[in-house]
Amino acid sequence: MIDTIIAATPENMEAAQKLARDIGVELAPIETSTFPDGETKVRATKAGLRTILFHRLDHPNDKLITLILAVSALRELGATEIVLVAPYLCYMRQDQAFQTGEAVSQRVIARLLSQWVDHIVTVEPHLHRTKNLSAIFPHTKTTAISAAPLLAALIDNETPPSEILLIGPDAEAHAWTKAVSERAGVPFIVLRKTRHGDRDVTITIDERAPIAGKHIYLVDDIVSSGATLCAAAQVLKKRGAARIVALAVHALCGEQELKEIKNAGIVQLLSTDTIPHKTSAISAISLIARAVM
Ligand code: R5P
Repeated sequence: MIDTIIAATPENMEAAQKLARDIGVELAPIETSTFPDGETKVRATKAGLRTILFHRLDHPNDKLITLILAVSALRELGATEIVLVAPYLCYMRQDQAFQTGEAVSQRVIARLLSQWVDHIVTVEPHLHRTKNLSAIFPHTKTTAISAAPLLAALIDNETPPSEILLIGPDAEAHAWTKAVSERAGVPFIVLRKTRHGDRDVTITIDERAPIAGKHIYLVDDIVSSGATLCAAAQVLKKRGAARIVALAVHALCGEQELKEIKNAGIVQLLSTDTIPHKTSAISAISLIARAVM
């Protein structure tokens, strides 16, 4: 039996092909179809002793079922180690019950994934109140890849660094904004955010922050409703920012949100391809390849 193989469903095939090429291993398709009653049918065509399953988990509900069935099929074919490469790790934001009775999805989904795979590789997982992935995956190997080199590479190198300011929209953004700032050699600050609802946030900024005339890069891990970016851009425009570009690791937003982001004064939103998106401007595949090798 082959030692290492990459497996992927049709919707993940293109990225999985790049990953297989980078690592230099064979790619085995996983066939999927839908039964007349809407249930999912999965057939693995080949497994390696170590099988790397490339499976995107944005908009995850159906994809989680496919994942479980695919892992089960790969194990039937003899896989003894399954490495899940999920460039975006879903359900990480609901890390506590904000209201009585709410499920803590982060823990539930982490437990589910742990039951099926041996190793999880992901890019910039959203860990706010959670220290690291081992805190929620105590018995499963995990690898969290920093997206800082990718976001730093998106910063325009024709503008003098002294005219650029990186801004994290909230305290949670401190770690990744700092990492990008160190890579790019430009300063950073973070703003204060209060979330009132899914699409309702307020952002405040320190009076002394040097915003006027600056080329601002807003740096965030996820763009979903776009409310965070819009609120931040409005505050920054009032303070005289010369130009605002947003950099995100995972772009989950749709057309409507993109329009709102533009209307808020953000000239460009650039993201990685952890989720294929019309704003994807740089690929995470080579970083992933290095991590799984
Ligand atoms: C905050 O918890 C995250 O880092 C992002 O700022 C947030 O998920 C963005 O979500 P939205 O686009 O819905 O404001």
